Amino acid sequence: MEIGRGAEAVITLDGDTVKKSRPAKSYRQPELDRRIRTERTLREARITSEARRLGVLTPIISDVTRFELKMERIEGEKLKDIISPELSRMVGETVGILHSGGIIHGDLTTSNMILSRGRICLIDFGLSYYEKTVEAQGVDVHVYFQTLESTHDRPRELMEAFVDGYIKTNPQAEAVLQRVKEIKARGRYL
Ligand SMILES: Nc1ncnc2c1ncn2[C@@H]1O[C@H](COP(=O)(O)OP(=O)(O)OP(=O)(O)O)[C@@H](O)[C@H]1O
Ligand SMILES: [Mg+2]
Repeated sequence: MEIGRGAEAVITLDGDTVKKSRPAKSYRQPELDRRIRTERTLREARITSEARRLGVLTPIISDVTRFELKMERIEGEKLKDIISPELSRMVGETVGILHSGGIIHGDLTTSNMILSRGRICLIDFGLSYYEKTVEAQGVDVHVYFQTLESTHDRPRELMEAFVDGYIKTNPQAEAVLQRVKEIKARGRYL
C-alpha cells in the first residue's frame, strides 16, 4: 500500500515494514540522477542508524539497496498534527542530542517527526550530514522555526519551548540560538 509520495521518494507499507524508494527523475541527466538517488539512500541508511546509536529514536533499517530502503514502521502520530509546547520541548531535547553528537538532520520539519510511545522519533535523513559547526546547527534550527511559523498556531510559544529543551542537551546551544537570529535577519535582506 502506498502511504506517501514526497518530492523524491515513494513510501509503501508492507506489514510492519516501510519501503522508501527513490524512483528516477526524468528532468535530471540520467547519470547524475542515479548518483543523487544512491547518495541520498545510503546517507539516509547510515545516518538514521548513527542517530539511533546516539540515543535518538529513529526507525531500525532492515535493508538497503541502491535506490531503496526498508525500515521499521513507526506507529504514532505526526508532530505536524499534534504539536504542543510540551512536544516542542521534547523536540528541542532530541535535536540537541543529535547536534551534540555531530549530526545535522537537514530537513527538520514537523512532518519528519512522529510521536511514538511518548517519544519523538525522527525520520527522513536523506539530506542529513555530519558537521558540528554553529552555522550548520543554526540552519537546522532555523528550518524548524520556519516550519512552526508557516504551519502552526502560536509559533512563539513553540519556539520558546524548543529552546528550553535544546539548551539542556546541546552545550553550544547559546551560540547556535544567537546564530539562528542572525540567519533570520540575513534572510530578510537577501
Ligand atoms: N518508518 C516510518 N514509519 C512510519 N511512517 C513513515 C516512516 N517513514 C516514512 N513515513 C511516513 O511517510 C512520510 C514520507 O516519508 P519521508 O519523510 O521519509 O519521505 P519524503 O519526505 O518523501 O522524503 P524525501 O524528503 O527524502 O524526499 C512521512 O511523513 C511519514 O508520514
Ligand atoms: Mg519527509
